[in-house]
Amino acid sequence: MKYLVVGNPISHSLSPELHNYWFKINKIKATYEKKEILNSDLKNLILDMREKKIDGINITVPFKNKIIPYLDELTTESKNTQSVNTVYLQKDKIIGHNTDIDGFRRSLEKIKFNFEGKNILILGAGGVVPSMISALNTMSVSKIFVSNRTKEKAEKLKNIFKNIDVVKWGYIPNFDVIINATSVGLKKDDKLNLDFTKVGKNKLFYDVIYNPSETNFLKSGKKLGNIAENGKMMFVYQALYAFKIWHSLEPKINDEVLKIVSND
Ligand code: ATR
Repeated sequence: MKYLVVGNPISHSLSPELHNYWFKINKIKATYEKKEILNSDLKNLILDMREKKIDGINITVPFKNKIIPYLDELTTESKNTQSVNTVYLQKDKIIGHNTDIDGFRRSLEKIKFNFEGKNILILGAGGVVPSMISALNTMSVSKIFVSNRTKEKAEKLKNIFKNIDVVKWGYIPNFDVIINATSVGLKKDDKLNLDFTKVGKNKLFYDVIYNPSETNFLKSGKKLGNIAENGKMMFVYQALYAFKIWHSLEPKINDEVLKIVSND
């Protein structure tokens, strides 16, 4: 059996290490590789799946939306977010699914923090944000604010998620949870041009970025007396749910798994 993660760039992806480790401990005879692709490769990629040369594919940046026209069906999750990160074959149909939603939700559930009735501020409006809003919408939160440098991109999200409030970049509304979903922080010295000094304490600072493990965003949150959490477990859980779909078994998260994703 053969599995793939495709994206561009892809060299940084830890998915192969994770899935191959789970193959090993579950005695599954399969391989999982990463492949850098172009838009023009999408068609043949799905053709390879139809011909059963590939058994499953994880899709990452920037193809989570672009893959959709080549698929036969979308699950509710991927339909609602227009984002597919897991592709599988079911009764000769190629199905696109989104495990980022459940991955994000489960990562939040593992944090000692009650989200009920809380105000959430999401920074950014890129590919992962619809999945985050979908997850938060099932968690009885009070308000979801979205702030993006390019406001129009956040406004577009409002067409899908009517309940969000779009706020101007630089304006920090009263929040309990703040999520960095921008790409700022991927480089160690990256800094958001936002002022957090007035936000108070005991809030949750969550960063989708997990490499580096502590961005300046998380550092500043911590320094001001807040809880800080990176996106490592979201990554692990989205992989876990993809594995579960392909192999009908929930893999273990043990020290070895945590070591694989802590390459900092
Ligand atoms: P994806 O592939 O996940 O969709 P993306 O669309 O490039 O990635 O999303 C990156 C996010 O980081 C965007 O919200 C982007 O804001 P813009 O829509 O204004 O581009 C945000 N981002 C990138 N660099 C930024 C910076 N220097 N300051 C603030 N936001 C930034």
